[in-house]
Amino acid sequence: MSRKKETLPAGRQVVMSGIRPTGFLHLGNYFGAVRNYVRMQEEYECYFMVADLHSLTTHPDTKELKENVHRVLSENIACGLDPDKVALYCQSHVHETAELYLYLNMLAYKGELEKTSTFKDKARQQPDNINAGLLTYPVLQTADIILHRAKYVPVGKDQEQHLEMARNFVNRFNHRYGEVFPEPVAFNFGEELIKVPSLDGAGKMSKSENQLATLYLSDDDEQITKKVMKAKTDAGPAMPKSPRPDYIENIFLLMKLVSDDAVVKKFDEDYNNCSIRYGDMKKQLAEDMIKFITPIREKTEAIRNNHQYLKAVMEKGAEKARKSARATIELARQAMGLNYF
Ligand code: TYM
Repeated sequence: MSRKKETLPAGRQVVMSGIRPTGFLHLGNYFGAVRNYVRMQEEYECYFMVADLHSLTTHPDTKELKENVHRVLSENIACGLDPDKVALYCQSHVHETAELYLYLNMLAYKGELEKTSTFKDKARQQPDNINAGLLTYPVLQTADIILHRAKYVPVGKDQEQHLEMARNFVNRFNHRYGEVFPEPVAFNFGEELIKVPSLDGAGKMSKSENQLATLYLSDDDEQITKKVMKAKTDAGPAMPKSPRPDYIENIFLLMKLVSDDAVVKKFDEDYNNCSIRYGDMKKQLAEDMIKFITPIREKTEAIRNNHQYLKAVMEKGAEKARKSARATIELARQAMGLNYF
């Protein structure tokens, strides 16, 4: 046994999460997910994955897939994820996922899948491609998680419903075949799950929708400044301590993520005594955003071009993930009675 292994506490809790390679990562992905991956990697047994199979439900054209997979891996590493400490892998490299997905599909009902918010949204967005993969998306996500018998799933607020469905599928499996899987829970260190709002005051930041109101980890200084300065504001409050409209609250929220406490406090006070100048606030936010994003963008570029390194990362990650997956599949098969020898 290696020294490193010996120092790991026995029986560490298992953590699993994933990101689809459907575009550039943005601040929402960072603060909702990747920041917690990095925080958890020392203490937990972590499995973090690029969800390339999930991306096929909405992006059947695979021309840019390889580049996107490489980018997501590079961005995760640039944000501080250490492929030696965690299993960082691609979903399609772990074939056991498909087997567990198949078993779980027998425990998922058409009615509940049709009621899922993400399914309804996507069906509206792509009426000509309402495929079965889209319908069973939460089943595949459950397979990803419980393939490692993970308990904690660091995700943003938009994934809450998928986690609730995962618990339902797990309970059905355990009830029918015996206790094999722990109930997974969405995790943010005991805090509310995060939703990073878009800069136009409507909805959340997203990889492929309203790109001008989303700050990407790959944006350059000029793009960041342009997007931040365009964020919607108004003439400012007329009365001291007025309630804040959503679009103003969002600017404060973004500032809290990247600026010093003293800076946020100053603009808070300015707002409450009606002296706030939104132009100054946005200028400060743009500066702090640039400080935050630039090192990540630069590190990502360096990693992204090192294909040998990325190949090694993927191979090592898949090996670790397959080891844990094989053990789980064996338990599931035994529990289900699929053992005829
Ligand atoms: P995806 O690729 O849409 O998003 C990846 C992660 O980023 C979080 N996120 C946000 N958090 C806060 N504010 C936002 N504006 C924001 N936008 C995105 C998401 O909550 C997510 O944590 N279904 C998953 C991928 C997946 C997965 C899994 C996740 C596949 N298998 C197993 C967990 C466990 C998804 O579409 O993520």
